[in-house]
Amino acid sequence: MSREAQEVAWPHLGKEIFVANWKMNGSLAFVEAYGARLLEQHSTISKKACVVVCSPTPYLKTLRDAVQGAVFLGSQNTATAQSGAFTGEMSANMAADIGCRYGLVGHSERRRLYHENDTIVVEKALRLVEAGVVPILCIGETEEQREMNETAEVLHQQLRHISSLGPTSGLIVAYEPVWAIGTGKTPTPDNVQKTHRIIYEILEEHGLCNVPLLYGGSVTATNAGDFLALKEVQGVLVGGASLKTDEFLQIIQCLDKISQASVHCSLDQ
Ligand code: PGA
Repeated sequence: MSREAQEVAWPHLGKEIFVANWKMNGSLAFVEAYGARLLEQHSTISKKACVVVCSPTPYLKTLRDAVQGAVFLGSQNTATAQSGAFTGEMSANMAADIGCRYGLVGHSERRRLYHENDTIVVEKALRLVEAGVVPILCIGETEEQREMNETAEVLHQQLRHISSLGPTSGLIVAYEPVWAIGTGKTPTPDNVQKTHRIIYEILEEHGLCNVPLLYGGSVTATNAGDFLALKEVQGVLVGGASLKTDEFLQIIQCLDKISQASVHCSLDQ
């Protein structure tokens, strides 16, 4: 794929990535107000930022209409199948059809509550790629695994099928330690840096270079700058704090305060 084609397919290329994951929160009124606020504040968002909002499925179209292209849409979950008798599921093609350019896969809540294993996760990611949607693959260790010093091994396991996506998938990986999600606890920036270096090594072993890495887990407007300042971090995945439009905007604005906020994810490196 040429650089021009990549830039069209992957709007995050060369940018810092900010992903809001609303999970199963919100209402029609909330989506309309949130979208209107993002549109109104659009001019304050740095050109170096790629902003993605993953709303619950039923609200994607409302959000799309409200933001008018000011931010990108992301799905929270899509099926392994392309179509057919799968009650309650949304296919990757449907996500693309409704305007999603990005799609979460492998979130720890999906892994834990809906028993999605690494095979299912990579299948979902493949469907997204086939539909022209960039997968944001979430990985991370539990508290117990961390205490047992198993983090590197767990990350290896979670990424073991990743080469089937191939080098032109536009893949983004989000490191989200399970113990940091929704708990107010975070690893130190030093820890994140070390873990991201391990993830780069694993991805390289699978022939995937220059994959943007996000940090996620209790990111707030107070701590986002500490993670974004690391050259090993190309963006953040934000849950709880993304439900407050102004806090999410403040998180994006952290980018302006970081001197070395330039691009880390060029494919030309
Ligand atoms: P949190 O969630 O920011 O509320 O910890 C992050 C996530 O689950 O993606």
